[in-house]
Amino acid sequence: MSDNIGLVILAAGAGTRLKLDLPKPLAPMCNQRLVSFPVQAALNFLKVTGCNGHVGLVLGHGKEEVESYLDQTFSNQQYPLFKAHQVEQKGTADAVRAYLKDVSDHKKTDVIFILCADTPVISEEELQLLYLALKDNGLDAVAATFETPNPKGYGRIVKGGKGFKIVEEKDANEEQRKITEVNSGLYAIKTSYLLDRISNINDNNKSGEFYLTDIFSEDANVAPVLFEDESLFIGVNDLAQLQTAERNLRWKHMRKLRDEGVRFIDLSHTYIDPSVEIGSGTVVYPNVFAEGKTVIGKNCVIEPGSIIRNSILEDEVEIKAYSHLEESVVRKAADIGPYGRLRPGSDIGSHAKIGNFVEVKKSILEEGVKVSHLSYVGDAEIGENTNIGCGFITCNYDGAQKHKTKIGKNSFIGSDSQMIAPVELGDSCYVASGSTINQNMPGGSFAIARAKQVTKENMAKRFIKSKS
Ligand code: UD1
Ligand code: MG
Repeated sequence: MSDNIGLVILAAGAGTRLKLDLPKPLAPMCNQRLVSFPVQAALNFLKVTGCNGHVGLVLGHGKEEVESYLDQTFSNQQYPLFKAHQVEQKGTADAVRAYLKDVSDHKKTDVIFILCADTPVISEEELQLLYLALKDNGLDAVAATFETPNPKGYGRIVKGGKGFKIVEEKDANEEQRKITEVNSGLYAIKTSYLLDRISNINDNNKSGEFYLTDIFSEDANVAPVLFEDESLFIGVNDLAQLQTAERNLRWKHMRKLRDEGVRFIDLSHTYIDPSVEIGSGTVVYPNVFAEGKTVIGKNCVIEPGSIIRNSILEDEVEIKAYSHLEESVVRKAADIGPYGRLRPGSDIGSHAKIGNFVEVKKSILEEGVKVSHLSYVGDAEIGENTNIGCGFITCNYDGAQKHKTKIGKNSFIGSDSQMIAPVELGDSCYVASGSTINQNMPGGSFAIARAKQVTKENMAKRFIKSKS
């Protein structure tokens, strides 16, 4: 498409009702920040339509903090991210004026979208539908609207003449308040029309604010575009709405994953962030949290209560109940848990097994390694097919520094063994149970490092105490 598009996100409001010690655009949302969602939707819109353009943010409250977050999160974008400053919050039309004043690139645009920073569920799909409605019908401006049984707080859509107008709750009369089609706060507007209309908006209303909604009127070539799904447009003004918006975002993402072949046992009690990818054939049980840059492959099983953050799981991985994974890689057909813990930097090889109550930190375990029970593996490298017995510990920390343990392939480490790092064992080593290893072992060697057993016949009675 040949249009140049500006996508403007209004984010100057204070958001005091959220009662968070943060500027509203930085409110937490699915392990990101509220403002990331409209920014991402705007960037995706430009990408999928192939339009030229930019994203503009109108900042006010907490401007510096929001700006620094945006710079960190959206550096190296294909499209420019411009920031405008609305010094005083005098209404949504005033916010758009701040954009027009500070962002000269608006002069290049044919169409301007206006989005609110506090409606995170809207995606590029809704932007595209709105854009098509504007273009296909040759309109000057369109507003996304929805029907709600509880329209309180929203601007009402009042149809008449060839266009429509929006009447804010405070300014609406009895009849208008009964209208259930309401304004979502998302618009697509021809730039020429916006420039023409915005200069005439006044603050002659009950709030004494400059309402952007006044660009619409009954005699204009404008139309409302009704969307069926109300859940897309939830605005985040308090913590209850924040919770609902997070849920709506996750559910929208999980429904999409379900359509692509992911099976949720109970989607309504599963917490998959929109940033997480999951392959088809995978089954996800309830009370699973998957967050951040997590990628889960095909045909995996993720059992209840597992938490997976910023991790990569290849195909056919099984995460058994109540496992906790952070910044780790689990390779094809490996098996973790129940009650497995992978701390950052763990790389678990294909067909490997990490059993119950095993903690792994910053370690590479190659293909087929088994650590099946009750162990701590930290700062270690373990070669393929090595079996680690129950109750194994890498003693990696000397109180000041961390040290490495290396164990070669095809080795057998008996239960209740400790490796006092730094220590290195070659391939095909055998460590007897109960050994404390503090010397390197060459490949093929056997080590036993435990006190010799002494057995005294008939002596037990000296030690067995009777209660009577
Ligand atoms: C607005 C609409 C209303 C619509 C509702 C949908 C107006 C006049 N009304 O009302 O019709 O139903 O959204 O949620 O537009 N902002 C600024 N600077 C300002 C004022 C607001 O940047 O001076 C930003 C806010 O940070 C927010 C957005 O604009 O992201 C919307 O402002 P808000 O005060 O929430 O408007 P509503 O009263 O909800
Ligand atoms: Mg609002």
